[in-house]
Amino acid sequence: MSKINEVAIIGGGSIGVSFAIIFAGGAQAVRIFEPDTERRAAIETELLAKATAMEPVSGVDAQDVLEKISLSQSLEEAVSGAGLVQECVPEKVELKRAIFQQLSDLVSSDTVIASSSSAIPASESANGLKVEQQTIVAHPGNPPHLLPVIEIVPSPSTDAEIVRAASNFYRSVGMKPVQLKKEIEGFLFNRLQGAMLREAYALVRDGIADVDDIDMVVREGLGKRWFFMGPFEVADLNTRGGIRSHAEKLGPTYERQGAERGQHDPWTPDLVQKVEQQRREILPIDQWEQRVQWRDEQLLKNLAVKNHNGGEQA
Ligand SMILES: NC(=O)c1ccc[n+]([C@@H]2O[C@H](COP(=O)([O-])OP(=O)(O)OC[C@H]3O[C@@H](n4cnc5c(N)ncnc54)[C@H](O)[C@@H]3O)[C@@H](O)[C@H]2O)c1
Repeated sequence: MSKINEVAIIGGGSIGVSFAIIFAGGAQAVRIFEPDTERRAAIETELLAKATAMEPVSGVDAQDVLEKISLSQSLEEAVSGAGLVQECVPEKVELKRAIFQQLSDLVSSDTVIASSSSAIPASESANGLKVEQQTIVAHPGNPPHLLPVIEIVPSPSTDAEIVRAASNFYRSVGMKPVQLKKEIEGFLFNRLQGAMLREAYALVRDGIADVDDIDMVVREGLGKRWFFMGPFEVADLNTRGGIRSHAEKLGPTYERQGAERGQHDPWTPDLVQKVEQQRREILPIDQWEQRVQWRDEQLLKNLAVKNHNGGEQA
């Protein structure tokens, strides 16, 4: 499959406009189709504001970014010649299916159709349609031009070549694609976010703490490490002996906390072994001390920036 140079964005709302900025950094042409007249009129100003704000970080002149982006008069015009179509319409399955149905007659069989959906899997939105094998979910964080991660979720029918082409494209514009092995509601981003948010709500409900106390624990504690590490790396570095030792020491308390919420997901020996094996492939245990030192250096840098900026953030 050849390199993707032209991209269509269907729906110029919050996600569509933000995607246009990041796609324009890599692709040669980005065309947006937005049917709402009022919304269309606002797009150019928003693009300019976002591209200008990005200039100091990207080093790319806002006008150069804007030159690559155009507004199309129709869906057909937007997708003509596009190697990737990023669907960014509201989160309604009928709406997404209707677009995919229309695309069946408008795009070639190797065009990637990527749905930005937060929760509707491709097996639901494209099931039984002509474009079924070329459709994936490519779920961004909000706003995509400032959060590089993008979740690639193929349906069981998606062609592997489409998945590869999509991942290569997102990588080429500076994003960090993560491919899920199977479809699951909420994908990874919202599963992880949801686990914490559910607990936070329950703690407020039960009168354990107020909203800002919980935000403070994340802002001033957990989030400082999550700024540069994921939960597995945090646990691995928190306990001498690595993640196996962490699971032995803290597994039982986490299991009790889960049970209190009606959850039964124990960290069985097989599961811990699988996690440990993957962690040790990334970080051999003889490099553990060095990585702990690296973690501390990152935290120190973060503290120095905060002190330089005058302490508490707004
Ligand atoms: N906002 C978020 O935090 C976020 C994060 C990740 C993914 N998403 C997903 O991205 C998608 C878009 O979300 P959003 O927040 O940008 O919504 P939005 O409401 O800001 O934008 C949707 C746009 O689609 C346009 N539209 C409606 N029907 C259309 C059609 N037939 N053809 C073309 N355009 C049409 C609307 O006029 C609107 O401008 C949703 O599936 C959403 O779940 C949203």
